Amino acid sequence: MDRLQIRGGRPLNGEIEISGAKNSALKLMVACLLTPEPLQLSNMPDLSDTRFLSQLLATLGVEVFWPKGASTCHLNAAELTSTIAPYEQVRKMRASFNVLGPLLARSGHATVSLPGGCAIGARPVDLHLKAFEAMGADLLVEQGYVKAAAIHGLKGAHVNFPFPSVGATEHAMLAATLAKGETILENAAREPEIADLANCLNAMGAKITGAGTDTIRITGVESLSGTSHAVMPDRIEAGTYAMAAAAAGGDVTLTHAPVDALGAAISALRKAGVTVDADPEAGTIRVRRNGTRLRSVDIDTQPHPGFPTDLQAQFMALVSMADGTSIIRENIFENRFMHAPELSRLGANITVRGREAVVKGVEHLQGAPVMATDLRASVSLVIAGLAAEGETVVNRIYHLDRGFEGLDRKLSACGADVTRLSE
Ligand code: EPZ
Repeated sequence: MDRLQIRGGRPLNGEIEISGAKNSALKLMVACLLTPEPLQLSNMPDLSDTRFLSQLLATLGVEVFWPKGASTCHLNAAELTSTIAPYEQVRKMRASFNVLGPLLARSGHATVSLPGGCAIGARPVDLHLKAFEAMGADLLVEQGYVKAAAIHGLKGAHVNFPFPSVGATEHAMLAATLAKGETILENAAREPEIADLANCLNAMGAKITGAGTDTIRITGVESLSGTSHAVMPDRIEAGTYAMAAAAAGGDVTLTHAPVDALGAAISALRKAGVTVDADPEAGTIRVRRNGTRLRSVDIDTQPHPGFPTDLQAQFMALVSMADGTSIIRENIFENRFMHAPELSRLGANITVRGREAVVKGVEHLQGAPVMATDLRASVSLVIAGLAAEGETVVNRIYHLDRGFEGLDRKLSACGADVTRLSE
């Protein structure tokens, strides 16, 4: 299993180009199931998660052409040969569950494994299923599978989510594009990836308005066509490198960055005393810190446009070296503090009380071997390792490969001493 060796204490200087967004790409790929025409996605992040989903799509009959190293992925679901997504595939990557809605909308039936819980929380899919039931689907949950049928097609429905779920909003929106009549999604999630998906679906002929707000209206159409679409840049990757530069110190400019999608993270960085110059038109974010001590900042994760849960671990690594105590509250997932004990191995002083972590800033972190159980937790340890004195080895970096394209290459190009150790 690969490990990442980091010799910390070097500032980062240079430019980092931000890749396409994993969490947008995964839903855009699934959209190919809605049409017999080709869907071409550019700015695709080459990650183990996106590669994994392309394999699942291939098992459903989608022709996938995505050579190694290419940034454009060609998907053609001219004919579907299967409407079954087995446990082995959905268990490994939760976003695989999102094939259910498009298969149901296009073929009238689908059998998809329930994803089960994961390291950050129980993560049920009840809101997804309620939306499909409201659209007239018959659902049977047995032996760990959802068996869904809508023999006469899905019908438009009024769905009021009890809280904004990213996955349920996207999933219902995908399915509603081919339903008969109008679907209204209220209290919908507003994450920028939802607007990216709606833009692609509209280019395919869907009629969606309001994506990016809490009320989305979808007027179903008979069929969708193919299109070409560029995946939006990854706001979480951008926020992560901004926090890495802030933690290690130095002067880093992020290019192709989705500046407008990062308001809460940029404001938290500024409160911590980091100089951030963001230019939405140029798509650049310059992050500087020149040896002055960071200040403590309290954060509270919230659905977009609040502070994203996917940057919580990285921000915790940052303020673990701040002057003062930061309170970090995680409101989205019930078990997303597993990085805290690992950060403590590097010398951080963190106490977790339920949904809150109390982070008492220390002057310096020291390198140590560490390990994490999910993607964002792993990268928080990389950030801490970059700032720590001495050597840090991050184990189980397959987590990083799920969501960060060329992480070691991008950091090394800015002067970090980072080496991938293969066994
Ligand atoms: C998406 O997950 C992202 N994943 C997550 O990124 C991200 O953390 C999350 O949104 C929140 O921003 C992808 O886009 C592939 P939710 P998702 O539905 O859609 C509960 C990463 O590191 N819930 O908004 O699964 C759920 O348990 C990942 O890249 C229900 O109770 O998130 C959670 O507590 C991790 N029932 C909350 O809602 C449901 O039916 C928010 O989940 C659905 C969700």
